[in-house]
Amino acid sequence: MDLAGVRVMTQHKCGEGWKGLGDGQAREEGQLEVADPAELSARLIKALSESGDLTAEWRPAFEAVPRHRFIPDTVWTQQGKRLVPLDRVDDESRWLERCYANDPVITQVDDGVPGEPGRVGRQITSSASRPDVVASMLAALDVEPGMNVLEIGTGTGWNAALLAERLGNDNVTSVEVDPEIADRARRVLREMGYEITVVTGDGALGHPESAPFDRVIATVAADRVPQAWAAQTRPGGRVLVPWTTDFHNGALVSFAVSEDGTMRGRIVGNVAFMLLRDQRGRGASLARDVRDIAGARQSFTRTHPYTVLGEYDVSLAIGLRVPRCNLVVQDGDEDGVYTVWLVDPWSGSWASLEHQPGAEKFAVRESGERNLWQEAEAAYRWWDGLGRPTADRWGLTVTPDDQYVWLDTEGHRIDG
Ligand SMILES: C[S@@+](CC[C@H](N)C(=O)[O-])C[C@H]1O[C@@H](n2cnc3c(N)ncnc32)[C@H](O)[C@@H]1O
Repeated sequence: MDLAGVRVMTQHKCGEGWKGLGDGQAREEGQLEVADPAELSARLIKALSESGDLTAEWRPAFEAVPRHRFIPDTVWTQQGKRLVPLDRVDDESRWLERCYANDPVITQVDDGVPGEPGRVGRQITSSASRPDVVASMLAALDVEPGMNVLEIGTGTGWNAALLAERLGNDNVTSVEVDPEIADRARRVLREMGYEITVVTGDGALGHPESAPFDRVIATVAADRVPQAWAAQTRPGGRVLVPWTTDFHNGALVSFAVSEDGTMRGRIVGNVAFMLLRDQRGRGASLARDVRDIAGARQSFTRTHPYTVLGEYDVSLAIGLRVPRCNLVVQDGDEDGVYTVWLVDPWSGSWASLEHQPGAEKFAVRESGERNLWQEAEAAYRWWDGLGRPTADRWGLTVTPDDQYVWLDTEGHRIDG
């Protein structure tokens, strides 16, 4: 599968949904009846087939498993930085449209306890992944009937049901860390006739009781890929993982497992998922982490911020080279005015770069023990010097006690 096969899934970017079924449209036209889920599902499946994301092998499973039956009655939508609830009981049509849009559906915030008063959440902690990403990942999993599969991150149970539809109940195990989410998925799966094993626990440990597996599919991202997944997979089997660095969330790696339990893989796609719960790390907060602006070191650069930070291949490479660095882009008051922040919340170092439309020189400020902008620029020059490798040239090896990145061949190892 090439990179075009799997698209970016940003948890923060919700697409436009279905043309002609936008919020309020039905009401304006006086059509008060609730949308028909079968019709919405058929449209989604048609669109996914036409875009090439849904293969002929997986289409019957998508037709057999209605997504809305797996989505909780309360979902969450983004309003700026706030996550606000959408209750099915208040607007069934809108809820159904969200279930069948080619978008992720946010199904839990702040680990089940919204962090702000008035049912307002801050962090997405569970979702039903975007349908084109689900379809593309299932295609990349490259399964055959009879294979035994482990899914990490049960969430709503929709993906697990798709796997069960294709492979059979006895061949699917799914692990979910959140007990309430796991219980709900188990119940809904049973109601829908899928008697698969849903385990409540840390998916990083896999599930040895159901091993050996032919395939492992993580629907949650890892920066350190758990070795247990290779240990529980047959030699020759495959492990599919959304892999992330602090700087860059968005590389789907397909690993082959060898006899000695090592897994080697290449980046086969571009997807962004939430991290395994105990790898969440420390996301940057400008309010908390940016201190002493007045005392910051000041300089200028002629390197355009977009050159370094805006392109997928470059930001992937910077993530390999500049550890413990988060990227935050803050929009200014006027069009085209924005500030790029690089923040290391662990050491308290930060850098900022201000962009003005048409400018050729950009003001840089750096603070703390690291010169984060200089590190990012050096990483950019390093990537440029390597001949600007595209994402599909990077590989990742995970041994029982190590993890490292390489370019083209395992002999060309890159140390961060
Ligand atoms: C993007 S959602 C998965 C979507 C799901 N496959 C579906 O079809 O709805 C990611 C899920 O991974 C779960 N998760 C996070 N860390 C985990 C861990 N260490 N072990 C198992 N599940 C985890 C989250 O609670 C969340 O429900």
